[in-house]
Amino acid sequence: MKDSTLKKLGVVHYKSGVLDEHYEVTKFALLETIKEAVPEMWSPTS
Ligand code: HEM
Repeated sequence: MKDSTLKKLGVVHYKSGVLDEHYEVTKFALLETIKEAVPEMWSPTS
C-alpha cells in the first residue's frame, strides 16, 4: 500500500530524532514570530 503524505512526514521527523517536546518549542517560536512580525494577524485565541 502506498504511504500517505502524513505518514511519510512522520517517518522523516522520527528518523531525524524529533521528539514530542520539540513540537512544543517549535509551536512557541512560531506563535511568538507571528506575534512579532505580523501583530495584526495575532490573537491569543487558539
Ligand atoms: C507540525 C509541525 C511540523 C511540520 C508541519 C513540519 C514540516 C516539515 C516538512 C514539510 C518537511 C520536509 C519533508 C520532506 O522533505 O519530505 C520537514 C522536514 C524536517 N523537519 Fe519538520 N515539521 C514540523 C515540526 C518539526 C520540528 C518540531 C522539528 C524539530 C525541531 C522538525 C525538524 C525537521 C527536520 C530535521 C526535517 C528534515 C530536514 C531535511 O533533512 O531535509 N520539524 N518538516
